[in-house]
Amino acid sequence: MISDTIVEPRHLDIERASIAAAAETMRQQIDHALSASVPKAPSSLYDPVRYILAAGGKRVRPVLTGLAAKAAGAGPNTSWISAAVAVELLHTFTLIHDDIMDKAESRRGKPTVHIAFGNDAAILSGDVMIALALESLSRHSEQSHELLEEFSLGFKRVCEGQAFDKEFETRHDISMDDYHQMILLKTSSIFELAATLGAYAAGGRIVEPLRQFARHTGLAFQMLDDLLDLTADLAAFGKTIGGDILEGKRTFLYVEAMGQYSKMTSGNRTLMDRIAAHEATLADVPLARDLFDNLGVLQTTRVMIQKETELAQSALQKVPNPRDRAALVAFSEYLLGRNI
Ligand code: IPE
Ligand code: IPE
Ligand code: MG
Ligand code: MG
Ligand code: MG
Repeated sequence: MISDTIVEPRHLDIERASIAAAAETMRQQIDHALSASVPKAPSSLYDPVRYILAAGGKRVRPVLTGLAAKAAGAGPNTSWISAAVAVELLHTFTLIHDDIMDKAESRRGKPTVHIAFGNDAAILSGDVMIALALESLSRHSEQSHELLEEFSLGFKRVCEGQAFDKEFETRHDISMDDYHQMILLKTSSIFELAATLGAYAAGGRIVEPLRQFARHTGLAFQMLDDLLDLTADLAAFGKTIGGDILEGKRTFLYVEAMGQYSKMTSGNRTLMDRIAAHEATLADVPLARDLFDNLGVLQTTRVMIQKETELAQSALQKVPNPRDRAALVAFSEYLLGRNI
């Protein structure tokens, strides 16, 4: 935790509450602008978009855009909102297509878009969200070249990350380094996009420190997503628990457990082999959870998430205003404590 001065705990509480209230105001502004960005007709194209946006979602990436804009000197204005909307639209497009690719049935506590509307609608509604995102981004007249460049980079990298995620499903030689590269692309890319667009929307100061913060925050976020996929409470999480086990995903937990394969009992090796070959069933999910727990993998995951969060926070030294820095630290701590 970065702190400039020693402050009385009561003052810290008040500061935390006011940071949380400011983030909540941002979330409401984002939701309002998001709804306004979706046309009415044709309904077969836009109903699925409205459906997934209304289903909820934490909106952490567009809030990061707002926090980064403030940290870069945006002041009380809301010039960052169109960029934030573009980020959330791009993220939500990835969710719709990811759920087709991962054969997922639940998202944000509701049937996934392809289950509710069919694959054709899910593909096209996902596609049009990219166009809506670009439309929103084009509302910025300043730094427009940098904004478009960052958007294209984030879009390309998230697709590259998804490609590696799918390639890895059938490979048996995935190292921790491979995993790290894959999540840098599939997850950190959109966090980096969120932060850099915020910085550019505010004039282009401290872009690189904010990118570093976002990169490490994204790494922590994906590792916690992998952990929650196996350990979360179904009602809160809104996605199928154990989905990664069923799909043979090379998650942080899987790769870490595989490193201990040689010391496993033959029964546990068979379980790992079934996961690797995409033969695991729902009955294997609690077995995998117990195995990963006994191997110390769940604990190692928590330690790594904490480590990446600390790296993210230490990238904030160059944020000039202590209150903006405190807001970003609070954001990373909220992500650390989440259970959805
Ligand atoms: C899910 O992101 C995709 C990952 C990178 C793990 P979120 O957990 O932010 O999903 P929503 O937007 O809150 O539904
Ligand atoms: C998310 O990976 C990365 C994306 C680009 C969507 P996951 O496949 O782990 O995301 P969830 O768990 O389905 O949200
Ligand atoms: Mg996926
Ligand atoms: Mg998925
Ligand atoms: Mg996941």
